[in-house]
Amino acid sequence: MGASGAGKTTLLDVLANRVTMGIVSGQMFVNGNLRDNSFQRSTGYVQQLDLHLESTTVREALRFSAYLKQPLHTSKKEKDLYVENVIDLLDMCPYADAIVGVAGEGLNIEQRKRLTMGVELAAKPQLLLFLDEPTSGLDSQTAWSICKLISKLSNDGQAIMCTIHQPSAILMKEFDRLLFLAKGGRTVYFGELGDGCETLIKYLWIKRCFTLST
Ligand SMILES: Nc1ncnc2c1ncn2[C@@H]1O[C@H](COP(=O)(O)OP(=O)(O)OP(=O)(O)O)[C@@H](O)[C@H]1O
Ligand SMILES: [Mg+2]
Repeated sequence: MGASGAGKTTLLDVLANRVTMGIVSGQMFVNGNLRDNSFQRSTGYVQQLDLHLESTTVREALRFSAYLKQPLHTSKKEKDLYVENVIDLLDMCPYADAIVGVAGEGLNIEQRKRLTMGVELAAKPQLLLFLDEPTSGLDSQTAWSICKLISKLSNDGQAIMCTIHQPSAILMKEFDRLLFLAKGGRTVYFGELGDGCETLIKYLWIKRCFTLST
């Protein structure tokens, strides 16, 4: 989390190995081991914009992603089956055969965001799913619904790292751990949020008392 321009997307891009410009230094570890070549194959990245081929159906878009991104030795039948799981998990059954269409027609904003996430999930990311501001540009009800979905995926065993801009208190409670960035990429807080963000609130309270007394 952080203000606009704090470097959230940049950090996410660096961690996801998607940066081609600038100087990136330091070492990156995955579960205590240096990141290797398989890293990119085992992660998915949900971008902020929902870009889809407008002439396909939801199911076709998901199958296309599964066919291209899942390993060659996985059979087509297995990939199709996995896509049906994703449709189920994302509650997309009622519109699985709907045409994506252009913005304003076809799928609505929430359905598009779900499809963007689905396309990455259909690729079966083993390690981590990155999401860049999945709730930006959504109304509060839709943002809540997307956050609930993220929480459901995480409960289902999918590790998730996501950037978020000005979340409401209700949305914050859905997350386990927070890296709070200030302008210039400086860390304000990094750690567990605790039940109802209790740990973060305690930390900020102690910090405030300490600042006032010095
Ligand atoms: N650690 C860093 N070192 C140097 N430049 C950085 C660093 N982090 C971010 N920047 C620069 O700061 C600018 C804003 O970064 P970025 O787009 O990642 O912010 P953001 O937090 O995602 O903003 P928004 O909320 O608007 O999406 C970019 O031009 C980026 O190159
Ligand atoms: Mg950004």
